[in-house]
Amino acid sequence: MAKGDAVRAAVVQASGELDLIDVPEPTPGPGQVLVEVDAIGAGYVDVMLRRGEYRGIPGPGSVPGAEVVGRVQAAGPGARGDLVGQRVLAVPGFGGYAEQVVVDVGRVLPVAQDADASHAVALGVNALVAEIALQRAGTSAGERVLVRGAGGGIGVLTTQIAHARGAEVTAVTSSPARGERLRELGAARIVDRTTAVPDQTYDVVVDTVAGPDTGRYLGLLRDNGRYVLCGAAGGAPAEDVLPTLIRRFHKSPTLLALSLNSVTPAELSRSWQEITALWKRGLLSPVVHRQLTLGEAGHALELLERGAPFGKVVLLPR
Ligand SMILES: NC(=O)c1ccc[n+]([C@@H]2O[C@H](COP(=O)([O-])OP(=O)(O)OC[C@H]3O[C@@H](n4cnc5c(N)ncnc54)[C@H](OP(=O)(O)O)[C@@H]3O)[C@@H](O)[C@H]2O)c1
Repeated sequence: MAKGDAVRAAVVQASGELDLIDVPEPTPGPGQVLVEVDAIGAGYVDVMLRRGEYRGIPGPGSVPGAEVVGRVQAAGPGARGDLVGQRVLAVPGFGGYAEQVVVDVGRVLPVAQDADASHAVALGVNALVAEIALQRAGTSAGERVLVRGAGGGIGVLTTQIAHARGAEVTAVTSSPARGERLRELGAARIVDRTTAVPDQTYDVVVDTVAGPDTGRYLGLLRDNGRYVLCGAAGGAPAEDVLPTLIRRFHKSPTLLALSLNSVTPAELSRSWQEITALWKRGLLSPVVHRQLTLGEAGHALELLERGAPFGKVVLLPR
């Protein structure tokens, strides 16, 4: 793409629709690189951005897209010039629904030259959240781990990574068909949340759902259990969270919140190395629910809003 060209981006309109429009080619600022995008990961966080529920960013006028895989085209002042030409996973937080994106070098991670871009982005943010959640919870082999929203983008990878590390995984999901697929990915037990509730206690709960049942799941922790809240696909956590924590004081529960926005470049890099090592060893399978074009980004968000995807929806800019 020649310098000065316009690039296409999916921009949130006042109506909430996403329109594919021409925007000026972005220029990398100090400490930033410009990435030519090959594949974009769509996630529930983009739904929240469209609704204007994301960190105070107004929906209209914004471009969703927390993660892309592509090639570094240019480096801004003071940014690592050696990255130019490299394939990377870039994690800008938003702005990724575009043919090109600028991102801070600390949010850029290496991707193998021969890796499939859709597969790499299907790991992307979701694998980072899963890996960091399990690490920060100090998850050990043999421990019982419960995953809420197990069929979603983050849940599918939390299930696989926890299983690969020797944990016994219970996957909470919404249908027998999803349960079957989660079993194939390493879940030892399935709880269909539409018909049942978990009847065990857990060392670790990784929760991407939150919502009205948060207190109930917090109550499933064993002595010294750890609860990692890393998403809210089911709405804000219920108000009984703190009372539940205090009522169970004698069990020494830990409640952790995790947002990738606050993770340091060093922890991101360390975690991505762990993820790519598991991937190379065949212990991690990227799960792509569907590939759509960038022009179909609105449809991707509708699927996510309905909780329909199993794994990751990927958008292709070309
Ligand atoms: N911590 C971070 O840095 C970070 C980064 C990215 C995203 N997130 C957040 O993490 C959450 C999940 O993201 P994602 O991309 O994995 O979403 P996703 O692919 O849409 O998956 C969410 C899953 O949660 C379950 N679910 C949805 N609504 C539910 C409800 N009302 N009650 C119970 N379960 C429900 C469904 O799984 P089942 O059908 O299998 O139950 C759904 O597939 C979002 O809130 C997102 O904003 C956090």
